[in-house]
Amino acid sequence: MEVAEVAAEMAATTLGNPEGRVLGRITKIKKILEADVGSWAGRRVLVGGWVKTGREQGKGSFAFLEVNDGSCLANLQVICEASTYPLAELVPTGTSVLVEGELKPPPEGVKQRIELKVDKVLEVGPVGEKYPLPKTRLTLENLRDFMHLRARTNTISAVARIRDELAHATHAFFRQNGFRYIHTPIITTSDCEGAGEMFQATVLFSQAEKLAKEIKENPLPTESDVEAAKLVVKEKGEIVAQLKSTKASKPEITAAVSELNKAKETASRLEERSKLTPGIPVKPDGGFSFDSDFFKKPAFLTVSGQLQVETYACAVGSVYTFGPTFRAENSHTSRHLAEFWMVEPEMAFATLEDDMDYAEEYVKFMCQWLLDNSREDMEFMVKNYDKTAIERLKLVASSPFARVSYTEAVEILMGVTDKKFENKVEWGIDLASEHERYLTEVIFKKPVIVYNYPKGIKAFYMRLNDDQKTVAAMDVLVPKVGELVGGSQREERLDILKQRILDADLPLEIYEWYLDLRRYGTVKHSGFGLGFERMILFATGLDNIRDVIPFPRYPGRADL
Ligand code: 4AD
Ligand code: MG
Repeated sequence: MEVAEVAAEMAATTLGNPEGRVLGRITKIKKILEADVGSWAGRRVLVGGWVKTGREQGKGSFAFLEVNDGSCLANLQVICEASTYPLAELVPTGTSVLVEGELKPPPEGVKQRIELKVDKVLEVGPVGEKYPLPKTRLTLENLRDFMHLRARTNTISAVARIRDELAHATHAFFRQNGFRYIHTPIITTSDCEGAGEMFQATVLFSQAEKLAKEIKENPLPTESDVEAAKLVVKEKGEIVAQLKSTKASKPEITAAVSELNKAKETASRLEERSKLTPGIPVKPDGGFSFDSDFFKKPAFLTVSGQLQVETYACAVGSVYTFGPTFRAENSHTSRHLAEFWMVEPEMAFATLEDDMDYAEEYVKFMCQWLLDNSREDMEFMVKNYDKTAIERLKLVASSPFARVSYTEAVEILMGVTDKKFENKVEWGIDLASEHERYLTEVIFKKPVIVYNYPKGIKAFYMRLNDDQKTVAAMDVLVPKVGELVGGSQREERLDILKQRILDADLPLEIYEWYLDLRRYGTVKHSGFGLGFERMILFATGLDNIRDVIPFPRYPGRADL
């Protein structure tokens, strides 16, 4: 059987896609290792991957290569004879190989399920010098110095697969529940959380730099340069006037007028240029002027797509956005990134209670999805990082979350005697991470939803409760991580919302469009944001959020 036919049959049997066209020539190692040994032994396949470890055997007559193609954690054992290819070029760790051969059942008593006996080495990407990743296991922290190579490690590639599964689970969950996926803008002129933690999107700096460089090469005209140019205009004007008064010929006059126009143009260009000031343009009141900036007003990278996705919730019904968000908070914790991904559903005609139900079901759905689709990678996490990771997924997927009001949560925490918190607990405080984790890890020992927070510590858009002191907010707290989800019922009453914006010292003009949603056909609506990396931390049991996003950005670091 030809390799392409094998690839097609593999796809047909293991992907459940008998009619589909098979793309690409290679067969993924995951498919080979999943296949039934009895029926696949003897077939020819084409495999491409990177050598994890390679060793020459039998006095250099053949080599064993452990090849990984990233499709799964496990490697395929590849056997190549010296007559097929110079073995010394194949065995260095990191070498890439595209090989063709026959699948063979392993010898009795060996733990590999199936191995590949290669008879054609089609392509090799050699490792010329010493491979930068050492053979001994680096800590995840040290691995961050190899951002471009760390995906080749077992941990980071397992995280990448788990992350991908969670993204699929997200789309599956919302699709099953009738939501539409909306792309909200990355660049925005509204500060959703009103916390002033936004990265600015501006070309003023690059403009200023360009100008400074240009001025250095070509200095700005002085006042006397401008005066001289104006004098030329005056002279040229006089010539025209004189020619006209002496009734000179038409071509003569036309030529003189053209000279005059040129002189005028030069003078005005010089004058314009003489007014250029190096640096960032400033307004008379001392603030920066954005007139020459790209958007002609201050613009930022979004901290949340919520406000924009609300416009679609108030038209399309149930929607969600899932994209990168950016926060310029100078947090050096293992739970914060400057760039992270957030999943934000928003539902029209939904109350806080509905919001909590959706959040709970969504988190459970993701846990079950990993149990169903990421067994091998999750077992790797259990073995290497967190013994309880799979147990935790099972527990969360199968038992209801606890729910307590903020007031109850504070009472519980105030009654704690076996632990001294660093941050004092009293009604009105923003719960610190230590409080959140104590509630979920020690008190409830499972996810807990805290709702109805004091209005003073929450964003302006959250619906004011009848007690006038609290808002219809909710946070989902989970073991290992603390806050995983933050959400609320939104303030749908125009006057109250306006007042809340003013109370938060935010400029009304910027939120007029948001207020319009309340002016025209307002509805009760709710939504939440789930920190995608926090979900991956929670699922894998890894300790640092910097290891669950492919390219972490945090204070002082933005590699690649
Ligand atoms: O609680 P937050 O700030 O809520 C919002 O942004 C709302 N606008 C969401 C909404 O209602 N649509 O952020 C939501 C979640 C947090 O619970 C946390 O999991 C995560 O986003 N998060 C971060 N994750 C990583 N790094 C950071 N710096 C984060 N800040 C928030
Ligand atoms: Mg929050």
